[in-house]
Amino acid sequence: AQIKEVQFVRSSNRPKDCPKDGRPEFAILGRSNVGKSSLINALVKKKEIALTSKKPGKTQLINHFLVNKSWYIVDLPGYGFAKASESARMDWSSFTKGYFLNRETLVAVLLLIDASVPQQKIDLDCANWLGRNDIPITFVFTKCDKMKGGKGTRPDENIRSFQELIRQNYKQQPPWIMTSSVTGLGRDELLLHMSQLRNF
Ligand code: GTP
Ligand code: MG
Repeated sequence: AQIKEVQFVRSSNRPKDCPKDGRPEFAILGRSNVGKSSLINALVKKKEIALTSKKPGKTQLINHFLVNKSWYIVDLPGYGFAKASESARMDWSSFTKGYFLNRETLVAVLLLIDASVPQQKIDLDCANWLGRNDIPITFVFTKCDKMKGGKGTRPDENIRSFQELIRQNYKQQPPWIMTSSVTGLGRDELLLHMSQLRNF
């Protein structure tokens, strides 16, 4: 399940511009600052791969990274930017929804949730939307090394209450993994999980 090689392939601004080679892919989704880039860098054990292809502007939205020449990690823009205009948010959401609903090679969405803070409405909205639309999802809880969340909460409590709040929108409880890009917690578990989902 280890990653030997990662290549940046392309940034696409529409789902139909994404690679058409049929290789399986995992989309990395989550709030800005949740630890998306850090997780990708930790997974591939390269410091800045997720940053090197990051181009500003909302037209450069879907970044495909080819792993071991056989499957993709897809970096999506963070949602919930406080500074993004309302119209930019709308564009983001219709664009991303189109990708999730139409991308046939999507194995699963890895939805990153910051376990060091109490649950956020925007994360719940996102998780509920994915659940209602039967999009396969794995919850990846980030920053689990931070033992004290805000308001006296802790990662395990935050995770439990998050799962409780989204439960009714899922037929089955989605898989979930606790991670830390600082300690490496969950890295191998997540790689193994992804290899099981894609069957190789
Ligand atoms: P955007 O690119 O703005 O969407 O953010 P992002 O989701 O890519 O987050 P990024 O990886 O840049 O991390 C945001 C901040 O959280 C940085 O200061 C990281 O050092 C910190 N961070 C990320 N992962 C962890 C983690 O597992 N533990 C701790 N303690 N801090 C983390
Ligand atoms: Mg980032």
